[in-house]
Amino acid sequence: MAARKADIVVIGGGPAGYTAAIFAAKNGAGVLIADKAKRPLMKLRISGKGRCNLTNNCTDGEFFDNIFRGARFLRSAESRFGPQDIMEFMEGLGVPLKTERGRRVFPVSDRADDVAQALIDEAQRCGVTVIREEIKRIETADGRVTAVATPSGRIGCRAAVLATGGRSYPATGSTGDGYRMAEELGHTVSATYPALVSLTCAEDWCSEAEGLSLRNVRLTCRKKKKVLFSEQGEMLFTSEGISGPLVLTLSSVIAGEDPAELETWIDLKPSLDSQTLDKRLLRDMQEMSNRAFKNSLGELLPKSLIPVIVRLSGIDPDRKVNGVTAAERNRLLELLKHLPLTITGTGGWNEAIVTAGGISTKEVDPRTMGSKLVRGLYLAGEILDADGATGGYNLTIAFSTGHAAGIAAAEYLKEEDPGTEKSGDGKEKTMHAIAIDGPAGAGKSTVAKAAAKELGFIYVDTGALYRAIGLSALRNGVDINDREGVSRLLTSTEVDLRYVEGEQRVFLNGEDVSGEIRTEEVSMAASAVSAQPEVRAFLLDLQRDLARKNNVVMDGRDIGTVVLPDAKCKIFLTASPEVRAMRRYKELLEKGQDADYEAVLEDLKTRDYNDTHREIAPLKLADDGVEVDTSGLDLEGSIRAVIDTAKERLGI
Ligand code: DC
Repeated sequence: MAARKADIVVIGGGPAGYTAAIFAAKNGAGVLIADKAKRPLMKLRISGKGRCNLTNNCTDGEFFDNIFRGARFLRSAESRFGPQDIMEFMEGLGVPLKTERGRRVFPVSDRADDVAQALIDEAQRCGVTVIREEIKRIETADGRVTAVATPSGRIGCRAAVLATGGRSYPATGSTGDGYRMAEELGHTVSATYPALVSLTCAEDWCSEAEGLSLRNVRLTCRKKKKVLFSEQGEMLFTSEGISGPLVLTLSSVIAGEDPAELETWIDLKPSLDSQTLDKRLLRDMQEMSNRAFKNSLGELLPKSLIPVIVRLSGIDPDRKVNGVTAAERNRLLELLKHLPLTITGTGGWNEAIVTAGGISTKEVDPRTMGSKLVRGLYLAGEILDADGATGGYNLTIAFSTGHAAGIAAAEYLKEEDPGTEKSGDGKEKTMHAIAIDGPAGAGKSTVAKAAAKELGFIYVDTGALYRAIGLSALRNGVDINDREGVSRLLTSTEVDLRYVEGEQRVFLNGEDVSGEIRTEEVSMAASAVSAQPEVRAFLLDLQRDLARKNNVVMDGRDIGTVVLPDAKCKIFLTASPEVRAMRRYKELLEKGQDADYEAVLEDLKTRDYNDTHREIAPLKLADDGVEVDTSGLDLEGSIRAVIDTAKERLGI
């Protein structure tokens, strides 16, 4: 099988992984994301209750006030890609944003899926390939990353970004595999704890108040004499204990503490000091002197908390209020200002929004996210020992560290590029690439071939590669629409392009199949398999490799947009459907075949639709591409138009 290769493998398709992949690719690297989950970005899709609170519209100072662990470490990455940059980036990807209470930023659509899709689309535009495969190990030699190992083989690479996330929400694929891989390479992983999570309490009465939400209370937690947490806000009771915004924050602050050493209480009336509250109690009691004690607290407490407080106060519920003693009133006062809770644990990994703890940031360069132990290894996102409050801070960490890692990994490749071909004087040779994309029947192959001949470049017909895979499926009886079957077939398929007397030939498992791939049946099969991401990923490196080593005129559907996004000359060769259909119709007649112009036109329009609407690498004009419409041109004119454009763009 053809050895699989990429410049950079990003392990984990979450927000940190996608961001790293996008920025590495934008900086010239060939990037592959490997994720074992069925769908990428699963946790992002369910974040913020499916709305995705992707960052916090705050200043740098406010940002760091909300980071529990790793603030110093995050400074450099945040300064280069902080909340405002993330917002600009997302809006630039076509996701309009809005800021809500607590400066929380959401997509205007309230759909986390829109954020996920924008990242997926951008990665695809940048030429990133995504495979659904589990990475088991990162391989190194002489202290550098050389490959990653999957259950079905190796993927050679020069850098790896480990972005597998933490341990929270294991159902989304975050099972903590990355910690083990990092440990195997010598990294220290500090103990991990569920954070931003509900807390369990010993008090049985919590379940009585289950579902009750308290607004404007103060929650305080102390360890011996030291106050660890004291904040005012909202919390609620659950069947097992407490939850809600205040509690989530508290859980992060006390992550890793021994609950037995903690003393926790709620101040139910934080805006009244004890004296003022006592006066208020006295006044209420005078006004309601003839009521039973249990019926006198309606103004003071929410309904479901009244029986709890009455019981804890030890005052007879049926006693008349005027019979309540001063000592009893004091006890009531004490409960309102200091309602004790005994924390016993947390709601666990299935509930935790984030992981506290992880790869020690001491062993990671804060500017690059590069490992200080292994060259070519980068770490990003929740796997790092850095975490923050709810409100978009943790996703900000993922985006910031992903951005830093992606850019640095791409830079690392340039710094010491053992694969780059050097010319005699030691300078890098820059190869010229002309990318020609366009719909079927626009004359791409004829024009590209002629242009290559005149310029002395090699002509690469990438359609032949898809045709070879299509042929392989047909020969092996694999259903061309069975993605998994085709994907399996790839593990025993080798496709190669060779040049015999200046002519491209395509080889399938060592056999020259250049003639056999030109049938209608193979065309159909090629069209089906070319819509499959695994097939596109499989063929990508081969195409890029050819362009790295040769001056090429390469034709296809996604050459300018995906395969060679850095090509200096990108041409979109097209003609009206009618003109293209007429050319094809005449061609068939010349071959002596029976043909119907209307049927040919219909066929062509269907293919156009499929090519431009498929999910992966759809046919379209690259942002920096030039459209050449050959409707009014003859062959000679079309060739001239392409060569003139190429010479101008390449400066040759
Ligand atoms: O250009 P062609 O007809 O030989 O291409 C065969 C199929 O492969 C066609 O259905 C489009 C597809 N293809 C592709 O998806 N991307 C390319 N770069 C080249 C071809």
